[in-house]
Amino acid sequence: MSVESRAGALLDALRERGTLREMRVIAGAQSARMSVDGREVLLFAGSNYLDLAHHPEVVEAAAAAARAFGCAAGGSRLINGNLEIHEALESELADYLGTEAALAFSTGYMANVGVIPALAGRGDLVISDALSHASIVDGCRLSRAEVRIFPHADLDHLEKLLRETASTRRDVLVVVDGVYSMDGDVAPLAELVPLAKRWGAMVLVDDAHGTGTLGATGRGSAELCGVGRDVDVVLGTLGKSLGSFGAFVAGSRPLRDLLVNTARSFIFSCALAPPQVAAARAALAVMRREPWRREQLSQNADRLRSGLAARGIATAPSATHILPVIVGDNDATMQVCERLLERGVYAQGIRHPSVPEGTARLRITPMATHRSSEIDYVVDLLAKALIG
Ligand SMILES: Cc1ncc(COP(=O)(O)O)c(C=O)c1O
Repeated sequence: MSVESRAGALLDALRERGTLREMRVIAGAQSARMSVDGREVLLFAGSNYLDLAHHPEVVEAAAAAARAFGCAAGGSRLINGNLEIHEALESELADYLGTEAALAFSTGYMANVGVIPALAGRGDLVISDALSHASIVDGCRLSRAEVRIFPHADLDHLEKLLRETASTRRDVLVVVDGVYSMDGDVAPLAELVPLAKRWGAMVLVDDAHGTGTLGATGRGSAELCGVGRDVDVVLGTLGKSLGSFGAFVAGSRPLRDLLVNTARSFIFSCALAPPQVAAARAALAVMRREPWRREQLSQNADRLRSGLAARGIATAPSATHILPVIVGDNDATMQVCERLLERGVYAQGIRHPSVPEGTARLRITPMATHRSSEIDYVVDLLAKALIG
């Protein structure tokens, strides 16, 4: 069979199921107001939540790093690519999170497929939530450990799994998202972390969407849930709130050393480029200095949530800046998405396999820099598109 006929058959099947995806073309910088497919729109579909990707200090830091160090690290960290600025970024991230150490990865996806196999292997057990991010799922598969899944946020089921394995004396790793990226709910970490600890399990929280946005000082979902000091491993991204690109794993010094020595996605991959590192450092500094961004993001999300609720539009179970409006049908979801775009709002329709079959939805993500009038406009538009 040729590549073309294989591709054609598989793409036809996706088209028939209503899950064929196409990329939109973005012009200009990522910001609250931008150009998508040639149209000026309000962006409610991104992860640049604090609007730092195009902040002058962040942009200038990246440009200065490119001038000083060039555009590539030129190799992996363990060969020639370990720059002073990588180490500086990692110290600053560890300081910010209150951990002993941190290690940068090229993406959050690569961090998960690196850290999970580093902490669990053949003969061990990984326990994870049914709605875990795809990169957690793939990290679990790559680990070759046994993987058990509990229904979303069901701590009784988690405890049952922990109890069942207690007598086997295997190493157990519990992996969850801090904030569920397609639903916007926060993992029940206040109960989950002590529960896992009681049964002697290690805990890894992927806080891709909580880093910089949640908790009194923006340290994320563990801080919000009051267990900031108890999570063994925190994974965060640099490409969302931190306006750059890349990711990190934070925890103890032995954890960092283990990852440097065993995480294949760290070892066998080029180090983050200097402009990305410098941008992340600058964004971290702005984020720490300007708590108003986090506060405004939360207020904007609350305004959107209560505005939609007043029009009878549910966004459950969201408690954060990620708001799902579940439509159900794939085609109907994409039609609403197009109607919004025509009227100047970009909120992406999300279908299987990003979410379970039959739960296609609009995923609406406000930013810290949206104005109240813009939030109200989105509420009005959505009510008209969904209710008429
Ligand atoms: C929960 C979660 N983990 C990991 C990732 C992957 O991060 P990255 O985009 O840096 O690969 C994402 C990104 O969408 C995510 O939502």
